[in-house]
Amino acid sequence: MLLYRSAVWFAKGLREYTKSGYESASKDFIPDDLEVQVPGRAFMVTGGNSGIGRATAFEIAKRGGTVHLVCRDQNRAEGARGEIIRESGNQNIFLHIVDLSDPKTVWKFVENFKQEHTLNVLINNAGCMVNKRELTEDGLEKNFATNTLGVYVLTTALIPVLEKEHDPRVVTVSSGGMLVQKLSTDDLQSERTAFDGTMVYAQNKRQQVVLTERWARAHPAIHFSCMHPGWVDTPVRRLVNCLGTLEAMQMLPRRRKQKKQ
Ligand SMILES: NC(=O)c1ccc[n+]([C@@H]2O[C@H](COP(=O)([O-])OP(=O)(O)OC[C@H]3O[C@@H](n4cnc5c(N)ncnc54)[C@H](OP(=O)(O)O)[C@@H]3O)[C@@H](O)[C@H]2O)c1
Repeated sequence: MLLYRSAVWFAKGLREYTKSGYESASKDFIPDDLEVQVPGRAFMVTGGNSGIGRATAFEIAKRGGTVHLVCRDQNRAEGARGEIIRESGNQNIFLHIVDLSDPKTVWKFVENFKQEHTLNVLINNAGCMVNKRELTEDGLEKNFATNTLGVYVLTTALIPVLEKEHDPRVVTVSSGGMLVQKLSTDDLQSERTAFDGTMVYAQNKRQQVVLTERWARAHPAIHFSCMHPGWVDTPVRRLVNCLGTLEAMQMLPRRRKQKKQ
């Protein structure tokens, strides 16, 4: 079944997740939608220091929105914030240092955030694919802690903040990689089978979509959506999804754990 799902996903990916997929989809874009300005609206972008999150934060900044970057590394985040301010001319770029894999920190962050700020849009963009089984200080498997639990705690804590505002939205950057996994909740910590980071990531991305469906039903005042960005050349283990799938399809040999010296 995994082989079948992986083959279908990969064929779909080659058609839809590449540059030609974007070029074909963009023919249906409505120019006025792309020219939107967002002054007076506040956006939180997790993982806003890098890749898709940084590009998103920059576009919002250019269009006059207030941006709250939620990042885990002070230096990388300061650098990105400085560049976004310089390149966009927008000074309303705030930085919050939060490790999303630490649920207590995430909860405390929101408790403080809501005393000082309002929020119209949450963009759950941060994500990771850790290829060996690593645990957080709380003993949680790292991919699950970041991609699923972090997104869950942050979104749940922010729902009352979002519900106070006009046209509130939550956008979660999932992945087409989720198509290789059905929802499975019996081994959330990946303890019982051989660890495969690509499949754990895909499972987390499936979990994000299921959470989104549930939130949308439970909180109709907020618009919840999920997206797949396509295959984007960013630091997040470039094309690892693709390599993992090829391996699963037995089209590539398993990657060696370590090169022999
Ligand atoms: N690139 C693709 O082809 C692709 C395809 C499908 C889906 N996606 C999804 O797109 C999203 C953005 O990824 P990207 O491609 O733009 O990769 P990226 O440039 O590596 O960005 C990932 C961001 O998440 C942050 N992050 C990771 N773990 C975190 C944690 N525990 N706490 C706070 N922040 C954390 C990273 O921070 P650091 O800089 O400190 O590491 C980084 O800012 C991810 O959710 C990814 O799964 C990407």
